[in-house]
Amino acid sequence: MLLAYLLERKLEMSSLEGEIFLLLNLENNFPMATKSIMKVIDEQQWLDDAGEAIQPVIINAFKAGGETGNKIKNFLHGKWLGHALHPIVTDVPIGAWTTAAVLDSMELCGSEKYKTGADAAVNIGLAGAVGAAVTGITDWTGTSQAERKAGLAHAIINIGATALFLSSALLRKNESSRKTAITLSMLGYGLASFSAYIGGNLVYNQQMGVNHAASADGFPNEFTEVCSEDELPDNSMKCVQAGETKILLARKDNELFAIAHTCSHMGGPLSEGELLPDCQVRCPWHGSVFSLRDGSVVDGPATEPQPEFDVRTRDGKIEVKLKENSSSSYVPPAG
Ligand code: FES
Repeated sequence: MLLAYLLERKLEMSSLEGEIFLLLNLENNFPMATKSIMKVIDEQQWLDDAGEAIQPVIINAFKAGGETGNKIKNFLHGKWLGHALHPIVTDVPIGAWTTAAVLDSMELCGSEKYKTGADAAVNIGLAGAVGAAVTGITDWTGTSQAERKAGLAHAIINIGATALFLSSALLRKNESSRKTAITLSMLGYGLASFSAYIGGNLVYNQQMGVNHAASADGFPNEFTEVCSEDELPDNSMKCVQAGETKILLARKDNELFAIAHTCSHMGGPLSEGELLPDCQVRCPWHGSVFSLRDGSVVDGPATEPQPEFDVRTRDGKIEVKLKENSSSSYVPPAG
């Protein structure tokens, strides 16, 4: 609607005046329009209800697979990669379908020789869409509230885009329906692009797939006192402050451990989670499990490790310092 209004106003003006009007207004109004899209999605109660019904089914399906199900889940999250797998896999359909759109456009302009390439690109995109769907659904099980709604909207629109490309792929086999097939591909590409916008918003605005532990700056590079020894009984955890940084301090079987307190997945408070046997901690928000020994991910949805700290006691006080060669990808600022 906004675009239609701006185009109508532009047509009332001279050419140069119109271009400048359109550019200025798009720059001013586009962020507002895109914010409205996310707001509309967030207001959809049915997305919340559907998410609440579907999410446990997928989580339970992984659980039903036992150890193998868990390994598959962690593989799809990207634990083995130390990075979310979904955004990497989505490059396949986006790239292939962009190629198809370019080659189809050339065909429509009269270059018949690009037909085979366009058809192959549509099919490669469809294969990639399967990978993007399974990795995306797996990541979606680790969302709640606004991200869960946006994630579900993203998935539904992607299903629509994939259905259009699938219909296009089938119709391409027949020369008489080739124009319809190309039209369906173009519509699918428009839908996929819109869905990619929602996916981008999930990352850049809602910070899904971002390492929340690494964004906490000011990790202590020198031993810093955080609490007295008697404040941390055996088999307990505590959130302590070292300068501006929150650290999870744990004592398990009389051994002291310290890792970053903010969960790398979506920022959950680890001290409110569960202290597990084998010196591990489970995040209270989406159940990621980290080793207290080195901050590594034992179980997703987290894929990035927690920064780890050296711990020592001095005169009844506990002190921590960022471990050299911490497994975190975070590099503290020099000085
Ligand atoms: S915030 Fe999601 S598992 Fe910790």
